[in-house]
Amino acid sequence: KYEQHGSLSHMRVLVTGGSGLVGRAIQHVVKEEGGAKEGEEWIFLSSKDVDLMKEEETRAVFEKHRPTHVIHLAAMVGGLFKNMTSNLDFWRNNVHINDNVLQAALHVDAVKVVSCLSTCIFPNDTTFPIDESMIHNGPPHHSNFGYAYAKRMIDVHNRACFQQHGRLFTAVIPTNVFGPHDNFSISDGHVLPGLIHKTHNAQKEGTPLTVYGSGAPRRQFIYSLDLARLFLWVLRDYEEVEPIILSVGEEDEVSIKEAAEAVVEALGFKGEVLYDCSKADGQFKKTASNAKLRRYRPDFTFTPFKQALKDTCDWFVANYDSARK
Ligand SMILES: NC(=O)c1ccc[n+]([C@@H]2O[C@H](COP(=O)([O-])OP(=O)(O)OC[C@H]3O[C@@H](n4cnc5c(N)ncnc54)[C@H](OP(=O)(O)O)[C@@H]3O)[C@@H](O)[C@H]2O)c1
Ligand SMILES: *[C@@H]1O[C@H](CO)[C@@H](O)[C@H](O)[C@H]1NC(C)=O
Ligand SMILES: *[C@@H]1O[C@H](CO)[C@@H](O)[C@H](O)[C@H]1NC(C)=O
Ligand SMILES: *[C@@H]1O[C@H](CO)[C@@H](O)[C@H](O)[C@H]1NC(C)=O
Repeated sequence: KYEQHGSLSHMRVLVTGGSGLVGRAIQHVVKEEGGAKEGEEWIFLSSKDVDLMKEEETRAVFEKHRPTHVIHLAAMVGGLFKNMTSNLDFWRNNVHINDNVLQAALHVDAVKVVSCLSTCIFPNDTTFPIDESMIHNGPPHHSNFGYAYAKRMIDVHNRACFQQHGRLFTAVIPTNVFGPHDNFSISDGHVLPGLIHKTHNAQKEGTPLTVYGSGAPRRQFIYSLDLARLFLWVLRDYEEVEPIILSVGEEDEVSIKEAAEAVVEALGFKGEVLYDCSKADGQFKKTASNAKLRRYRPDFTFTPFKQALKDTCDWFVANYDSARK
């Protein structure tokens, strides 16, 4: 199957963004769960190894490692709905990173690249559930259009690369990811890690926990380790250029209130929980369909939400000093 590089056992996988939330989960699955097969090499890059916004550096790191396979996670992320002033940076930085990575992968004859989109890049005005066919069906929410269009262009790049060079460059679309090694910043807008950090603070200080908004909006959360296991499956066995949504089912969507209650339970918080309805709720829901994933992997078992959340809370408490926050 991978003739250009000899046998399967010579698979050499380069992971960009290898030090982030998702990258660390893939490291765990590869190194601690036997996710790597014999003879495979895995290389995890962080921004300390290479600035992927720089074309020359990117090409040099790909020439050095000559990967047969690439998992492309690196991105300028965060604070998506918080700030409308950085769309130019989100657009340019991500377009440069993505173009440099995909072009360098082509240059070294990598046979497969799996990049990472996000459900927050879908059209704002849409029907539910969202599925893989809808990515380009209308403008994204105006608050994050720079990030959203840059991510959408990965799909354009992948399709053109298949048409012109026959390469299997594809992408996955996760919903909200959480797990160990997340950024637990309270102000950056990622709801679960922020809630975990806030609850931990309220517990230490003996103050009430204040959740922003009414608690009514509903979200699908995927545990980073489940996502990592699915990434390995996509890397080995998924052969479409079309992206695939990686998410728990529609029935596993939880309200922010349910998520907050689960955090409270996981951390054993005994204080009062308040909902500050003067704060914006954001989109009420963005339900995504995992029907395509289920057609391929009817058997895949997601870690139960409460258990994954408990493990994440335990990790945060145990690693409080060194955690990103
Ligand atoms: N978190 C979510 O809920 C979520 C949901 C859907 C999709 N995604 C997608 O999943 C992917 C991974 O996200 P994550 O949550 O793991 O992000 P993260 O924790 O913020 O990690 C980002 C990674 O990208 C690297 N990076 C950023 N800029 C770089 C540059 N210029 N050159 C080289 N490396 C650079 C970072 O390196 P350093 O550690 O050295 O800074 C880090 O390894 C992203 O593409 C994101 O869009 C995330
Ligand atoms: C965006 O962030 C900048 C710098 O932190 C801040 O000055 C500005 O007020 C923020 N804008 C919005 C719309 O939140
Ligand atoms: C997003 O879509 C909703 C529902 O269709 C609509 O009410 C809202 O005005 C849209 N917002 C933006 C910023 O486009
Ligand atoms: C975590 O996210 C916050 C908010 O986006 C940011 O200010 C901070 O630098 C991040 N921390 C790390 C270690 O990346």
